[in-house]
Amino acid sequence: MASNLVVLVFLVLIIALSAFLKADGKLSPKHYSCECPKASSIVEAEVRAAIQREKRIGASLLRLHFHDCFVNGCDASVLLDDDIAGSFVGEKTAGPNNNSLRGFNVVDDIKAKLEKACPGVVSCADILALAARDSVVYLGGPSWKVGLGRRDSLTANITAANTFIPSPTSNLTALVSSFAVQGLSFKDMVALSGSHTIGRARCTSFSTRIYNESSIDSSFAKALQRKCPLSGINDNEVAPLDIRTSTHFDIQYYKNLLNKKGLLHSDQELYNGTSADSRVKKYAADTTRFFKDFARAMVKMGKIKPLTGSKGEIRINCRKPN
Ligand code: HEM
Ligand SMILES: *[C@@H]1O[C@H](CO)[C@@H](O)[C@H](O)[C@H]1NC(C)=O
Ligand SMILES: *[C@@H]1O[C@H](CO)[C@@H](O)[C@H](O)[C@H]1NC(C)=O
Ligand SMILES: *[C@@H]1O[C@H](CO)[C@@H](O)[C@H](O)[C@H]1NC(C)=O
Ligand SMILES: *[C@@H]1O[C@H](CO)[C@@H](O)[C@H](O)[C@H]1NC(C)=O
Ligand SMILES: *[C@@H]1O[C@H](CO)[C@@H](O)[C@H](O)[C@H]1NC(C)=O
Repeated sequence: MASNLVVLVFLVLIIALSAFLKADGKLSPKHYSCECPKASSIVEAEVRAAIQREKRIGASLLRLHFHDCFVNGCDASVLLDDDIAGSFVGEKTAGPNNNSLRGFNVVDDIKAKLEKACPGVVSCADILALAARDSVVYLGGPSWKVGLGRRDSLTANITAANTFIPSPTSNLTALVSSFAVQGLSFKDMVALSGSHTIGRARCTSFSTRIYNESSIDSSFAKALQRKCPLSGINDNEVAPLDIRTSTHFDIQYYKNLLNKKGLLHSDQELYNGTSADSRVKKYAADTTRFFKDFARAMVKMGKIKPLTGSKGEIRINCRKPN
């Protein structure tokens, strides 16, 4: 009898302690290990299948996590659809996102699989963090442990999306400060910009650069001008952010910068006769160093203001609050 009581008290303590640990705002790679042990492998399989269908989608998924985290934290606010009636405006039509963000259907597919396996357990914000990591790994980049336990926002803020996501026309000072606002360092900024070793950009994101700038390789600029004529008819035409290997996560992005072949103005700002040059040179020469700094910076970015404990919710459908 007495021993039963001891066991009972012990169990209650364990449960109270684990609830306390979950509520203390820390992310943990083991967050779903009881309630949804297959969560990570389900995400991984879906990401792999999506990239096998289309290589670029890996880049698009990585970018979704970035655009989520920079706007009031990694809370899946970026996934909320506008309300058809116009009563709710999400972040999808913000300047940096409209006609540009991709991968929402892949997130829906992942969520559907997770809801089948463990209903109401895995957050959309955690899906974005896992899918970003898996995409990088699948395209040949580094891996890292993804802390989990983020919860999903009930709302979104288009003004914040327009304010906090850096612009491709930004100068170095503006880039540094938009990362600093998120608690990310200069080094984090240069490493995370290496994401542009994969994926594509629309003409509108770099047309000023290819017609008007001097720190650009002239044959590179001319080829892009043919792709993006000033008439504007090709507005949704895209070019690879890394001219050489846009489906491989590697150091080619930094090598391009050394040759004045950064696609975006903001890219070339990292190698244009400033203090950033030495860091770009280091990454251009050292894959191990870039991978290590990139992985570390991704972990940091993934920890920006997560909703934990009883804040927010676990959305059933990533596109709308429950
Ligand atoms: C440093 C400041 C940054 C600026 C100014 C910037 C800007 C842009 C722009 C303008 C595009 C092309 C969008 C379009 O034309 O549709 C783009 C694409 C992309 N960005 Fe960034 N970005 C930055 C940092 C980052 C970071 C930190 C990440 C990830 C951690 C990232 C990941 C990507 C990826 C993967 C793509 C290609 C997406 C695709 O092909 O669908 N970017 N970025
Ligand atoms: C988003 O893009 C659509 C389609 O090009 C356009 O009609 C709409 O005005 C844009 N929305 C905003 C808020 O710029
Ligand atoms: C949305 O974000 C803007 C810019 O950060 C901020 O000024 C505003 O208060 C936010 N709106 C809400 C409803 O939180
Ligand atoms: C950088 O851009 C900001 C505006 O975003 C501007 O105020 C500042 O003067 C620019 N700095 C340099 C060094 O050009
Ligand atoms: C290039 O600069 C000129 C003069 O500042 C400007 O009128 C023109 O619109 C710019 N071209 C592009 C493609 O941005
Ligand atoms: C590079 O430096 C030149 C000269 O200071 C400046 O005009 C240009 O805007 C800078 N950035 C890029 C991407 O060319």
